[in-house]
Amino acid sequence: MPNPILTLGIETSCDETSAAVVQAGEVVLANVISTQIPVHRRYGGVVPEIASRQHVEAIVPVVEEALQQAQVDWSAISHIAVTAGPGLVGALLVGLSYAKALAYSLDLPLVGVNHLEGHIYANFLAHPVQLPLLCLVVSGGHTDLIYMPEHGHYESLGRTLDDAAGEAFDKIARALGLPYPGGPEIDRLARQGQETAFDFPRAWLEPNSFDFSFSGLKSAVLNELNRLQQKGSPVPVADVAASFQAAVIDVLVTKAIAAALAKKVSVLYVAGGVAANSSLRHKLTEAAQPHGIEVRFPPLQLCTDNAAMIAAAGYHYWRAGKFADLHLNATANLPLASW
Ligand code: KG4
Ligand code: ZN
Repeated sequence: MPNPILTLGIETSCDETSAAVVQAGEVVLANVISTQIPVHRRYGGVVPEIASRQHVEAIVPVVEEALQQAQVDWSAISHIAVTAGPGLVGALLVGLSYAKALAYSLDLPLVGVNHLEGHIYANFLAHPVQLPLLCLVVSGGHTDLIYMPEHGHYESLGRTLDDAAGEAFDKIARALGLPYPGGPEIDRLARQGQETAFDFPRAWLEPNSFDFSFSGLKSAVLNELNRLQQKGSPVPVADVAASFQAAVIDVLVTKAIAAALAKKVSVLYVAGGVAANSSLRHKLTEAAQPHGIEVRFPPLQLCTDNAAMIAAAGYHYWRAGKFADLHLNATANLPLASW
């Protein structure tokens, strides 16, 4: 008999309102994502106040749509998993308040999930996963190498000391006059440019360090753009995009492979919005092959923010009996802690 445990996941940490129904932490029955990107695009980035208001408008229909698509009613739901942080506090509060109200009124257990662990758990929805696992998490807010010996246990091998990879993509895209979010735009344009057109710096940091830094690269690209502008030269946008992207990906690939070798894992998992990058997918897979390391990426829709990944992580909280009470609060800078 199939495992009947159904998790309702709710995610509102940034600019997507999402609700999902996931069976046994692995099978996605519904994953509804209402994106606010067209609204924020006008301002060149996410406007927190607007994000909160948009979540308020979307949350009820998105949750109802998820139940409808999954063809289940409330009586089938076993528990509710909601993102408690990190993220925009006003945005998080919308999903969290609604999840708490549902848990209270329907008398369902509630669990609070860290957004970052949600990204890692997206992999459980995509392919069979064996623990321990090593995951490169690359998103708009994070660049982390995380080793996970068992469910709910996280060991940070390295992280960004300044900007996240996705944040660097978004900032450089903005400077190039590309719309928000910049990652997919740079990914697209880079295919038409030369990676070697500009020799942008790679921050390797200390030998054997698994930490990252992208602020020096960002400054180097911005300086180059200024220099070109001052000379009155046209900006070769595709070449800048390709050279910048290559610099980010070189470092991500080299450090992720080094971490996989240090931890002696045969599979390397990747997660987060930047995991959708076509060059990262290609170069990391290629670089890992001679070492006998297989690289696994979630499908594109599970790389960027979604509630199915929150439900996948929430299922394991439920199994471990790690429930939240109605005092659960939204925490903008919630660290990834073991439970
Ligand atoms: O995981 P995510 O949806 O939200 C956060 O938790 O931050 O990641 C969003 C980030 C943005 O910075 C976006 O530009 C980046 O992921 N991104 C990409 C691509 N698709 C999304 N970056 C590079 N290449 C892409 N194809
Ligand atoms: Zn995210």
